[in-house]
Amino acid sequence: MARSNFAVFASGRGSNFLAVQEQIAAGNISGDIVCLISNKRTAPALEKAQNLDIPAFHKSPRQFENEKSYTNDHIDTLKEYEIDYILLAGYMKKIPDAVVQAYPHRILNIHPALLPSFGGKGYYGMRVHDAVIERGVKWTGVTVHFVDEVYDHGPIIYQWPVRVRDDDTPESLAERVLEYEHKAYPKVVRWVSEGWITAEGMRTQYTGPSEEWDI
Ligand code: GAR
Repeated sequence: MARSNFAVFASGRGSNFLAVQEQIAAGNISGDIVCLISNKRTAPALEKAQNLDIPAFHKSPRQFENEKSYTNDHIDTLKEYEIDYILLAGYMKKIPDAVVQAYPHRILNIHPALLPSFGGKGYYGMRVHDAVIERGVKWTGVTVHFVDEVYDHGPIIYQWPVRVRDDDTPESLAERVLEYEHKAYPKVVRWVSEGWITAEGMRTQYTGPSEEWDI
């Protein structure tokens, strides 16, 4: 199968971006991250991409006249780099509907909890772990899903549970969940680029080797 071109969208630190990039460098993913887009000018992810010679762009709605030109600019960049898949890696802004519609089942997101719990508007980054601890659930985890027009809602591809310990703080929990994110996201990017994921409605199917499922 031909190698895929990935665009990463990131708003912050970019550790999930690096986790995917490492597995590409190790030869485990048949594709390349060919550009990175951030809505935050100061996002460390932008610098991390530049250090790897990956073209990195800051795009924020404020730079554009209106929502339409902001959206079209994204689509132009995605076309220019012949993007097959968009990987959201800590991207804290909603993807415009026109972009979602241009890339059906081709936008992935990683969320630091077991969706549909602790997801949706307002649930991002540390806020997710705050809410998990506050609610007292005993399990949280990692979810990787396709992106649709609704926040944290599209078809789920992969989930892995993480135990919430009685003495966890939001910070200690975030750190432990992140370790699993770094394993789960490259795994799913590999599966998608191998053509091992099919989707129908809200359900996806994994057709790859069974031994690759577990972390
Ligand atoms: C990760 O924990 C990711 O799951 C979360 O933001 C963090 C980004 O870290 N994403 C969301 O909350 C999206 N709703 P990173 O920049 O180091 O990859």
